[in-house]
Amino acid sequence: MKNRRDFLKATGLLSLGLAGSGALEGYAAEPVSQKPRVQRFNMSGYAAPKLDKVRIGIIGLGNRGPSHLGTMRQIEGVEIRALCDLRPERVKAANRRLEGTIHKPTLYSGNKDEWMKLCEQEDLDLVIVTTPYYMHANMAAYAMEHGKHAASEVPAAATLEECWKLVETAERTRKHCMMLENYAYNFFQMLTLNMARRGFFGEVVHGDCAYNTSKMGNNFGKSVYWDMWWLRLYGSKKGNIYPTHGMGPVCQIMNINRGDRLDYLVSMDSNDFMMKAKAQELAAKDDFFKPFAEKEYRGNMSSTLIRTVKGKTIMVQHDATSPRGPHTMIHAITGTKALAQEYPLPGRISKDLNGWVSKNEYDAIVKEYTPTIVTRMSELMKKSGHGGGDILECWRLIDCLRGGLPLDQDVYDAAAWSSIVPLSEQSVLSRSNSIDIPDFTAGAWEKNLPNMDIMLTKGGTTKVLG
Ligand SMILES: NC(=O)c1ccc[n+]([C@@H]2O[C@H](COP(=O)([O-])OP(=O)(O)OC[C@H]3O[C@@H](n4cnc5c(N)ncnc54)[C@H](O)[C@@H]3O)[C@@H](O)[C@H]2O)c1
Repeated sequence: MKNRRDFLKATGLLSLGLAGSGALEGYAAEPVSQKPRVQRFNMSGYAAPKLDKVRIGIIGLGNRGPSHLGTMRQIEGVEIRALCDLRPERVKAANRRLEGTIHKPTLYSGNKDEWMKLCEQEDLDLVIVTTPYYMHANMAAYAMEHGKHAASEVPAAATLEECWKLVETAERTRKHCMMLENYAYNFFQMLTLNMARRGFFGEVVHGDCAYNTSKMGNNFGKSVYWDMWWLRLYGSKKGNIYPTHGMGPVCQIMNINRGDRLDYLVSMDSNDFMMKAKAQELAAKDDFFKPFAEKEYRGNMSSTLIRTVKGKTIMVQHDATSPRGPHTMIHAITGTKALAQEYPLPGRISKDLNGWVSKNEYDAIVKEYTPTIVTRMSELMKKSGHGGGDILECWRLIDCLRGGLPLDQDVYDAAAWSSIVPLSEQSVLSRSNSIDIPDFTAGAWEKNLPNMDIMLTKGGTTKVLG
């Protein structure tokens, strides 16, 4: 299926009149689809042919796209060959940052379907998708259909059908589809991953995680996000609409899709005690906010409990409203022999009933378990966003593509972690009933091997330019 019209037909976008827009109205709650699938090809551990140069196109140049542009242009072997945003001024601003460099991108803008032309551009290897997240899956799938690897911002999909579409498209085209979960590359997350792999926790039993951070200022800001899309999401969805930052690292630690898999969840939302009130307060002074004052917002606190097939549990929260100073990912790993927790900062570890280990012992554990990726990249991590996660995720992606190596996060991770978005909503809408989580690997999870190579056993040869 190469042609634009076929693609739109197959995705149902044409009949909905949503081609290219990813309009929020088309993103409705869906019935849970549990149809059994057969794996066409196992993308877990898949290594695509080596690329000497990685020629990149970026779709979406709001906040996150330019951040990836700045990071990617520092990495050896990268050529930025295409830029796209609906808004021409965003494309021009991004392009100005590349003046006088080796990067000479083709520019696409001014039309909601221009991103398709970027995906069709012949001389690209990788398409990075940084638009509002309910557009990600269609854009990533279309890029794969046109022979490109896809790297999507988080979450990679907003509906269950989109999760399956990513899996099926990646398996059929044998193109990578990585969700850029930068928090998987945070120091404490990688430290605890290494500790888990080396048996420090004994059996990992439970993980607590979250993305709890006040976004009231951003979400009600008139010019922070394109078309107020985050506020529209909070005003139309239920459940955890941003689960992957917390969950991704915990799933890596629990070997989800590689020895275990997510089985079912229950989810509960509090009421909204803040967003509608804020919208009404603003609407009283400013007509711009009148449509937002009518909306029923997602509750302030969303909590989801997930059980794995092997009987482990994960608690994942999302709170974007409470007036918290400190942001928290919680990131607490509980095992049969030890536990570790990063938030509140600083990180701490316990091995017995005597409380947290002393500072000296903590430092010794950190020294012993810090993975090679951190020791190798620590200086660059200090200069990069999100605790160094931004540079590491981009560098690993490019290094693996250039070295012909499997990626740290594959399409099954993207689908499983993102599926919490629609499935938590299903649970909330059914009075917190339990909802099955599909096996996106179609049984291959039992034999798949862990794939986040934090010890850099292979590769690691790509340089990062200053
Ligand atoms: N990993 C992280 O730490 C992190 C941080 C910030 C954002 N994000 C993710 O990045 C994504 C983008 O977020 P953002 O803050 O940059 O949002 P944004 O609103 O600032 O940017 C989105 C851009 O997409 C453009 N766009 C909209 N429709 C388009 C279309 N049809 N074709 C081309 N461009 C289109 C808009 O003009 C806008 O410039 C989101 O999915 C978000 O979850 C991740």
